[in-house]
Amino acid sequence: MNGDGIGPEVTRQGLKVLKAVAPVAGITLETDEALIGGDAYDKAGSFLPDETLEKSRQSDAILFGAVGGPKWANLDHTIKPEGGLLRLRKELDLYANLRPARVFDALVDASTLKREVVEGTDMMVIRELTGGIYFGEPRGAIEVDGRKGARNTMIYMEYEIERVVRMGFEMALKRRNKLTSIDKSNVLEVSKLWRSIADRLAPEYPDVKLNHLYVDAAAMEIIRDPRQFDTIVTGNMFGDIISDEASMLTGSIGMLPSASIGGEVALYEPIHGSAPDIAGQDKANPMASILSVGMMFRYTFGMPAIDEWIQTAVNKVLMNNRTPEIQEKGKNLVGCEQMGDLILEALEASKPVAVAGRA
Ligand code: IPM
Ligand code: MG
Repeated sequence: MNGDGIGPEVTRQGLKVLKAVAPVAGITLETDEALIGGDAYDKAGSFLPDETLEKSRQSDAILFGAVGGPKWANLDHTIKPEGGLLRLRKELDLYANLRPARVFDALVDASTLKREVVEGTDMMVIRELTGGIYFGEPRGAIEVDGRKGARNTMIYMEYEIERVVRMGFEMALKRRNKLTSIDKSNVLEVSKLWRSIADRLAPEYPDVKLNHLYVDAAAMEIIRDPRQFDTIVTGNMFGDIISDEASMLTGSIGMLPSASIGGEVALYEPIHGSAPDIAGQDKANPMASILSVGMMFRYTFGMPAIDEWIQTAVNKVLMNNRTPEIQEKGKNLVGCEQMGDLILEALEASKPVAVAGRA
């Protein structure tokens, strides 16, 4: 699903990598395309056409571009391109959004923070994706004593918290055994419940060290000392904000992939938006889409080695080549398309032996 703005151009590179890697991994790939976002609205009259939902349900994985743009910005929020994406997440029950923020060695100096602070940063933000204030009812315009306002509601049911926090513990076990749960339990009842559920689950995972942070303190700690974090688990809106913050450690939001899982289908997408200001100019960084393909191999196909292979190729290419937003002196300035070609070359030059044997 290409979507809007830079969506089509970055997804084209991701797809190119997917198609090149699949045979090496021993996977027979069947691909199809579907409309989403403003593009779908213009062509089919809906931000999430039924056909797109149907095709999604019949897939194992979705590679998603980006949605939204000024053309559709003034429509009512329930029918905006963003609404299409939110509905897709909800309909497919993609309740856990994995957003890794890893600082690639090649990009240590591209971050706005000092090298000593960001070097070696490698965290996984797990954001709850189908609940909380994004979906809570009642919502919308209100009128109280003749005065107009608007309202949203933050709601979490116990099962919604439990399943995503559990995923946090499981993820921490596969990583460095540390889980940070982020909430605002000094103010919000929903957060108090969240925290109590995390504490209740903790004894089931004796090897994982659980700690809690208020979201404001967490925002501060991520900038002060990002390396203290391993796995983070948090609600929908806090996760939206914290994951954008974490992305900046890596030098560019154009680097961050994501996986939305929980249902039968999984959705892989860059965390960046549609960047209409640079769309169609071959300036976008395709790495987030390419790394999202890596995550697809890890989480849908159960092949972490392929993900590692892709990540290594990305790091290698970034040593000497940059898209405009991370351009540094002495590096080649390349476009979106060429970046994709360079990744293909780097992959070809470093086929993993065990996997290559299966080709
Ligand atoms: C994200 C985006 C979306 C969100 C928008 C486009 C609805 O910011 O994926 O982080 O808020 O979830
Ligand atoms: Mg966001």
